[in-house]
Amino acid sequence: MKRVMVLTGGGDCPGLNAVIRAIVKRADQEKDWEVIGSIESFNGILREPTEIVMLDDAKVAGIHVQGGTIIGTVNKGGPFAWPVKNNDGSWTTVDRSDEMIRKLSYMGVDAVINIGGDGSQRISQKLFEKGLNIIGVPKTIDNDLAATDFTFGFQTAVQIATEAVDKLVTTAASHNRVFILEVMGRDAGWIATHAAIAGGADVCLIPEIPYKLDKVIEKVNSRYHKGRGFCNIVVAEGALPHGGFATGENTHEVGNEHIRLGGIGEKLMLDLVHAGIEADIRTMVLGHLQRGGTPMAYDRVLATEFGVKAFEMVLEGQFGHMVAYRHPHINAVPFTEALIHPKLVKPRGDIVRTAKGVGIEFGD
Ligand code: F6P
Repeated sequence: MKRVMVLTGGGDCPGLNAVIRAIVKRADQEKDWEVIGSIESFNGILREPTEIVMLDDAKVAGIHVQGGTIIGTVNKGGPFAWPVKNNDGSWTTVDRSDEMIRKLSYMGVDAVINIGGDGSQRISQKLFEKGLNIIGVPKTIDNDLAATDFTFGFQTAVQIATEAVDKLVTTAASHNRVFILEVMGRDAGWIATHAAIAGGADVCLIPEIPYKLDKVIEKVNSRYHKGRGFCNIVVAEGALPHGGFATGENTHEVGNEHIRLGGIGEKLMLDLVHAGIEADIRTMVLGHLQRGGTPMAYDRVLATEFGVKAFEMVLEGQFGHMVAYRHPHINAVPFTEALIHPKLVKPRGDIVRTAKGVGIEFGD
């Protein structure tokens, strides 16, 4: 029997379970393959005792509908930066990648499918360079991976953000308020821009277009030119004022180099109040609601396409590659190519032109 190990790494994302199910169902058709899962990304392999589960038809039945991941995930640490506590209580990281590759060989694992975002796929690339038979499946609600038109989870996040805008429009209109909705996306403004267009927001602030406060104020005031009015602002968590910085904190978590973004909505509210905006202003952070719950049909389908393709890449020995969607095809792209640069919103691209075409202000 041949063995493929599946793991999910990085932040969870609607559609992860649909990928796992698709891999298992496709592998089942080959008769001489079995699928196992490592709990919480590579941690399941590295822990003593190991935490590995058998993934068979019964285990994955119906899970394509469920959010989250049945095998758990982590977004810090990993085989190249395993956190270790020193005697003085401080933490450091050690490289356990060679040990892990040996362990996988001892466990009879012929191939690994790593479902994760850019951080996880960089780990995949390094493991591939060390000789591991590994394939990547891209996931992120942020939709910021250049090799693929879309990542699964993105459409679901946009839908949730759009529903939030829809709801805030009715309460903003009732109270003549300014509402600021902060959405996720890290350094990319895809979720914000799509939700702003779909929800009919008045202002959309994204990391790719640093905003000028006076432009935002001008737009807000224009929404009150008849006295009564309301204004809806969608702001991406990574948005920043012109000449300023993104808002967030360094969590100093061991094995996690990311700044935790957040707080730009609150900052913008204070800046608008200080600038003399008289209307009531409220802000809300949508946060992890964007990652939870049932994936939309689109994301279930894309995730299933990715899962089937990933297993077929295992059969064909296309290691060192990541699955990618380039309309109308599901392709295999080398990690080296897939990870060169992130996919960001182009300030002069079609999506921004469309948004501006319906009067959305970006503050530039
Ligand atoms: O990358 C996905 C994402 O949800 C980002 O949009 C967000 O900045 C980050 O993860 C949040 O991470 P955490 O779950 O660690 O708070």
